[in-house]
Formats: sequence, structure tokens, C-alpha cells
Amino acid sequence: MVKITVDGKVLEVDENNNLLEEILSAGEDLPYFCWHPSMGSVGSCRQCAVIEYANEEDQRGRLNMACMTAPREGARYSIEKAATFRAQAIESIMINHPHDCPVCEEGGECHLQDMTVMSGHNYRRYDGKKKTHTNQYLGPFIGHEMNRCITCYRCVRFYKDYAGGTDFGPQASHDNTYFGRWQEGALESEFSGNLAEVCPTGVFTDKPFSKHYVRKWDLQTAPSICAGCSVGCNTNPGERYGTLRRVVNRFNDEVNGYFLCDRGRFGTGYVNSDERITVSMTRTAHDANPVLAKTEDARAALQGMSGAIGIGSPRASMEANFALREKVGADKFYAGVASADLGMLKQVLDIYASRPVHVANIKDIENSDAVVILGEDVTNTAARISLALRQSVRNLGKEMARAMKFPDWQDAAIRQLTMDRKSPLFILSPHATRLDDIAAKVHIASAEDSARIGYAIATAIDGNAPGVTGLNKDEQALVKTIADALKNAKQPLIVSGTGSFSPALIDAAANIATALSTAEKKTNLALVVPEANSLGLALLMDGSDNALDQAMASGAKSAIVLENDLYRRAPSADVDAFINGLDNLAVLDSVKTQTGEAANLVLAAGTFAETSGTYVNYETRAQHFYSVFKPAEPIRSSVYWLSDSKLSEVTHACADSIANCAGMAGLTPGAGFMRVPRQQHRYSGRTAMRANISVHEPKQEQDEEGILSYSMEGMPPMKDSTVFNTAWAGGWNSNQSVFKFQTHTGEALKMAGHGHCLVSSNTTDKTYAPFGKSAAVKGDFQVFPLYHLFGSEELTAKTPAIQEKATGAYIAINAADAAKLGLQSSDGVTVVNNSEHNGSVPYIIRSSVKPGTVGVSIGLSGLNFRNLPGAIALEKAGSWSTPADWKAANIIVSDKTAANNGGNA
Ligand code: SF4
Ligand code: SF4
Ligand code: FES
Repeated sequence: MVKITVDGKVLEVDENNNLLEEILSAGEDLPYFCWHPSMGSVGSCRQCAVIEYANEEDQRGRLNMACMTAPREGARYSIEKAATFRAQAIESIMINHPHDCPVCEEGGECHLQDMTVMSGHNYRRYDGKKKTHTNQYLGPFIGHEMNRCITCYRCVRFYKDYAGGTDFGPQASHDNTYFGRWQEGALESEFSGNLAEVCPTGVFTDKPFSKHYVRKWDLQTAPSICAGCSVGCNTNPGERYGTLRRVVNRFNDEVNGYFLCDRGRFGTGYVNSDERITVSMTRTAHDANPVLAKTEDARAALQGMSGAIGIGSPRASMEANFALREKVGADKFYAGVASADLGMLKQVLDIYASRPVHVANIKDIENSDAVVILGEDVTNTAARISLALRQSVRNLGKEMARAMKFPDWQDAAIRQLTMDRKSPLFILSPHATRLDDIAAKVHIASAEDSARIGYAIATAIDGNAPGVTGLNKDEQALVKTIADALKNAKQPLIVSGTGSFSPALIDAAANIATALSTAEKKTNLALVVPEANSLGLALLMDGSDNALDQAMASGAKSAIVLENDLYRRAPSADVDAFINGLDNLAVLDSVKTQTGEAANLVLAAGTFAETSGTYVNYETRAQHFYSVFKPAEPIRSSVYWLSDSKLSEVTHACADSIANCAGMAGLTPGAGFMRVPRQQHRYSGRTAMRANISVHEPKQEQDEEGILSYSMEGMPPMKDSTVFNTAWAGGWNSNQSVFKFQTHTGEALKMAGHGHCLVSSNTTDKTYAPFGKSAAVKGDFQVFPLYHLFGSEELTAKTPAIQEKATGAYIAINAADAAKLGLQSSDGVTVVNNSEHNGSVPYIIRSSVKPGTVGVSIGLSGLNFRNLPGAIALEKAGSWSTPADWKAANIIVSDKTAANNGGNA
């Protein structure tokens, strides 16, 4: 730390950070555009100018950009004395800006508006012609209004430098600079939505939000958790007039930092969609027509289902699952996932609890300096992790820069210094992935072979780890390379997960992490699981192995299914047989499903936006989400359909009675906490909103839990960010204001919790899983799953904007195998399982797919992956033209583009 003086005020600051970051962290205001806490400094916008004095005698000083200045011990700086320069700088920046704030979607939360006011530029002298640009179509997620650009370069620094996008960048000629794609078309990055948050003006807009736009201050918001995958990114969704309008990032330095993926940001349209169940229904028999049921009758029918079994869900909250478990009894509560899937979830929990490993959060992942990924396509199963992995490979560059006394925030300088050199990242996968471009080595192998290599890596690190035999020369060389890189790293990381359906692969990952751990330091391990509350569901199955298979074999005549489509979990024929054998099936869900269609009691459940509860993420981090708005009757939280208790009572009962769940109890402030308004103090139109119905203002909705109000009443988060539903501070209307709530710019929020990791290990004992070779599966082609960020997840796939980027089911096959099958480019293939035809789908050629293996899309409509065994046969089917949705999704059938295309092709 060093002492500096800023306009006479003495500050103690960290000399390893830049002056701008330290001035902001001290609570002072200093305008900036191009600097970003996660992206560092390039010094291009000239807004953060300060005067730096050489010594005590120096009265004149010289201009320096604070973001490019390292604070010096004893140095004197002035923000005030550089005010004229900053006003002139912004006047020149604003010359071509259209000043279209009244029609600009950024208006009211615009960084440019804030900085213009802060800089004191308030009169336009330039009356010449402004530059104008043609806007591009950038796909279903992002709108483009280039005239508003101030050439700060933040967009390209995020899209290309930070997120690895290759289809977008600056294009310049003379004094014209344009930020867009090389040609019109959908942005390919899985993180394109962050452009709307990093751009300080209204160039990039949230397109689905534009379709039902309201001013930001008119949104009702509450802190939430993304339900799109198991990462559990923190979000602030906004509602108006009973519809969910948009989702923005909520900063949590350990989970998602400043960024979300596009599934999380744009995948919530299902909340407002026609796919919603908005009424309760009964049906007297499986084939009878459903009739509407009054809420009290539907609830009574549910209450009356004594003796029913309960089938839970990894996409329902802890509280909803627990309420069902309480209703039916623990012995009749079944995890709503297949037995093999529950086994893998429990395996993950067991590893986290019993091995000397540290479960890696996003910050740990970003700080890793050698990584091995075993069989998990993280870009498509846990996208935010892949963005963090992209930052991990930069650690070698930072190391090199430190050796040359460059600070970490000197972004452009470090990139120039490093060029293509990267920290090692190894990928073992059955197909090319989106991270291949940053990998030191990609090894294409089946899950089984990757597991063998993983075991061998563990043995190479620690001779006590169980080994495997029969590796060929190339595999042995690979094992040595990876083991050496991991051993030489300061912070190695192992990433795997349940995506390959291979317990051996998960054990291999755990063995490597165990082998690397020392008494002083546990190795980072991240095991991705499928859904928002997959690990929470596994925790609830404490002492029970009751999975869906057991439920279907139980002979039950009556079942309650919670927020779950069983057809996505098990072979269709098995689910059909189970449902046909039931006398009574009740389904509580927010969206229409095949299971719901077969039910004789359907209860309308709230989505994450209309209910509160807890999800447990891939780290076992329990996080609470608050309802954003009250749904229209009869929609209600599944908890309230199933239980008479308040949500907080259910949370506490769950925390008290389920092993390892005690930490759930402290996630929310107690009832005595000051009320936080969901509506901002800038909220408008409250009295006018219903004027067409009555001029008398109705009573605001009440939140029974008492922490947030459905109104402007209460104390908004100002300095206290315990319940942080909106970032706003005086003079800072944009999302940049988050720094006012952070302990230090870019670091943890003041007072707000990070959630609570429920399972961790305190052992230093090294135990290893023995290698268990799985039985060979018979068939022409070994199957591996192909995940898609857009389409594989059940709920987000019901969102119109996501559907524009998704495709129907398909298979990916090697060219030689396609030739053997006699496939022409216009053919489809029929998937054959034990002589049974399981439907025909289009195929694509991927050179990375090994002969004898075939990738089958999972979760996409047209083919149920769960119907397939580990190996299948394929037959040529009649002619198929390239489906229109492939074109819309920008899919090009070649492996080069596959890697550039989110693994889509
Ligand atoms: S488009 Fe936005 S982020 Fe990109 S350079 Fe222009 S103002 Fe900056
Ligand atoms: S990474 Fe997962 S949790 Fe995070 S925004 Fe994307 S879908 Fe949501
Ligand atoms: S923020 Fe310092 S020059 Fe842009």
C-alpha cells in the first residue's frame, strides 16, 4: 500500500492497481469509459484524466490518464484541476453522438449520460454534420444503433479479447470507425448479450427487451439466480405489467462477476410465453378432456392424494422439493432423475466431501494456470465457466508481465507482450469444442478412453494412485505432458462433470485433483452437473437411492410429479408404462410438458420469477432467489400448493432436517430486516397504471416473507447491498454504479453474502477411486451426447429468441462412416436401437468425430436421447433438405466452423 494525496485528501491505496480504480474505490467520482474492472486499461477514451504533480514544488503538474497510472508513494494528484480537459474530451466524443436520449433504450441508465453530466459538458457548440452509419442485423439477441458509438472500444475488447469471439470487431477507414460483424448475421459468441452491458451507450441493445420495452426505472426487480444451468449466475430480472421484461447481471465475484451467458440473459421468455400453464385442470381419466378446476378444489384434490409417491426435480427449488418430500414422506419421495444420473450426482457430492480438493468457483477458475478438461463441453453445459477458462490461459502472460514489472491492468501491453503464449489448457473430448482455440492440446477420445488417460495422469503425479494399462505411445506421451504441466502449475484445475454420463470420467478427474493436492494446498476441482438444483436434489436424497427408475418400478397407483417432464429423463416406453399404470397423476409445473398432458390433475406453478427459494449450484453453493412479481391467480409457488407453511419456514425445516443443508438457513436476512422496495424511487406511473380501471389506487401486493416489498416502500440498497436488486447511486444511473456497493472496485459486494457452500472437505487424506472398466456396449456406433447452449435446456428452449438460435435434433458423424452408410448430403439417417427404429433425423459431418462413434444431440426436439443405449445402428433415411432452423442458427456443416460456432455444427 502507498499513501497518495488527491485534491488534498490523503488516501492509502494499493500500488498494484491503477489510480482510477483506487480513486473510485475510495468513494470519489472520476469519469471513465474504456476501463473496465474485468478488462483492465487501454487509455483510449481520455475521460479519466487527472493532474499528476512531480513533487511538492510542482504547481503545474501534467495530465495523465488515471487508468494508465500506477499510484506512487507520496504522489499528489488533482481530479479538479483536470476538469476542463475532461469536459473538452467529452465534447469531442459527443460531436457525432446523436443526442437521441428520449428514444434511446439506454436513456436513464446510460453511462454516457452520467459521464457527460459529471464532466460538466452541457452545451453543444458543434453544429456541423454528424457521421452516420448503417446498422446491422446481429441476430435475435442484440440490436444495433451504431450512430450512438463513442469509439471507446469496450465492445470489441469484451467480445474478441475477453470472450474469444471471432466474428465481430472494429472496422476503420480514415476517421470512420465501425463496430460490427464482417457481414450481417447473428453474433456467434455465447456471451453476446454482455455487449448491452459493457457498451457505455445505446449501441447494443437487448433485442427481446426492445420488443416490450419500458424505461429501466419502471422495472420491478428482485435479486435472482439464473436457472439455466448449474453455475447459478446472479441476476436482476425486471418486470412490468405482469410480464418479465429482461434479465441483467447481478455482480457476485465468486459466481459470475460482471458477465452472463446468452442462455441466462435471453432464455427467460418462457415466463411470458404460451407454453405457460396458467390454469389448474382436472381430468377424470387419462383420455378424458381436461376441465378447469377452482384453486381450492385443485388444492383439495392434491391434499387428498394420500399414499401417493412424490417425484422431485432438479429444476425445482430446494423448498419445493422438500415440501413434496414432507407431503409424501421421505420413503415415498423419489428424485426425478434416472438412477444412473442420481448416482453421478451423489458421486460428485461424495468427492467434494471426502477428497482433499477445493471446489473451484469462477475466481479460482480464472486464476488457474494449468487446466485439464475431461469430457465436459462446458461452453454448452455451463457457459460461464468456459468464459472463466478463457481468462485462465492468460495467466502465463500476466506472469511474464509481472517479471517485467508490468501491472496486471495494463491490458493491451500484456497482450502485446504475450502474443500467442498461453497457460496450458488440455481438452479430452469426443468432439471438437468451442474452447479448442485456446487449448495447448485437444485429444479426441471417448469418455471411456479419456477416463483411462485421466487415471494414468493421476498415477503419473502420485504413484499411489491406481493405474491403468494398455495406453498406446501417443496416449502415454499425452499423459506425461499433462501431468508435467499440472505439477509445474501454482494453481492447477481439473474440470469434468456428468455431461458424458461417465462415472469413470468423474472419478478420473477426482483422482487427478487428489494426486495433485498437498497437505498445504488442495487442488481446484470443478464438476459440472446438469441443472440449476441438481446437487440440491441429490442432497435431499440423503440416505435414499430412490430415483425415477425406482419410482417407475414401485407399483404406485398415485403419483405427484413436481416441475418435471419425465419423458426427458427416461425412455419414453418406460414412462408411458408407468403413467398408464397410475390411477392418479398430479403434475405441478409452470410449463406444458408431455408428462403434464397425461396428468389428471394439473396445478399451475410459478417460475423462478414469480416464486422465491433456494438453488444449490455445481459447487454446492446454496443461493436464494426472490420473486420478482406476484403471478396472476391461480399460479402460485409449488411450495404453496404443497404446504401450508411460509416459505421461510420450509427453508428452515429443510435446513434443520437434511444433512449438510444447515447453511440454507442463513441465506436471507431475518424478518426484522428493513424492507427493500422492488420498485425504484424513480418508478413512475404507479397511480396512472390502472387509471383505465379505477382512479383509486389499489392496495399494493404484499410479500408474505416481508423482506422485499412489491412497491416503492422501504429502504433501497444504497450502501447496504444485503438484498441487492438494483444498482443505482447518485450521479451513477448506469450499471457502473455497482462499484459504489463493492468493498473495493471489482471485488465483493459490501454486506451481501456469496451464498453458502454446503459441502466441502477438510481431509488431507488421499484416497483414490479404483479403475472400473465399464461393460462394452454393443452396436455399430458408440453414442456420445452433443449439448447446445440454445435448445438443450428444457425451459429456456421454450423461449422464442432462443428458438431462433436452436435447431432440431441431429446426429454428427465422421465422413468415412457416412460414406460407408452411403449417405448423400441430402439424406437423413434413421437411428436404430435393437432393431427398433427411433426416428429419422438430419446428419452432419464432423471430421473430429472418430470413426465408429456418433454424436447425438440431447434435449433438441425430434429425438429423445434417453431412448438410446450406449451404442446404436444407423440406416440411411429418405431425402432431407438442410432444415431451415440450421440456417437460422448459422450452422455450417464443416468442422472448422463447428469449433467457431459453439460446437453447433
Ligand atoms: S459500440 Fe459501444 S462499446 Fe463499442 S466502441 Fe462504440 S460506444 Fe464503445
Ligand atoms: S452460465 Fe448458466 S447460470 Fe450462468 S447465465 Fe448462463 S445459463 Fe445462467
Ligand atoms: S478510462 Fe482512462 S482513458 Fe478511458
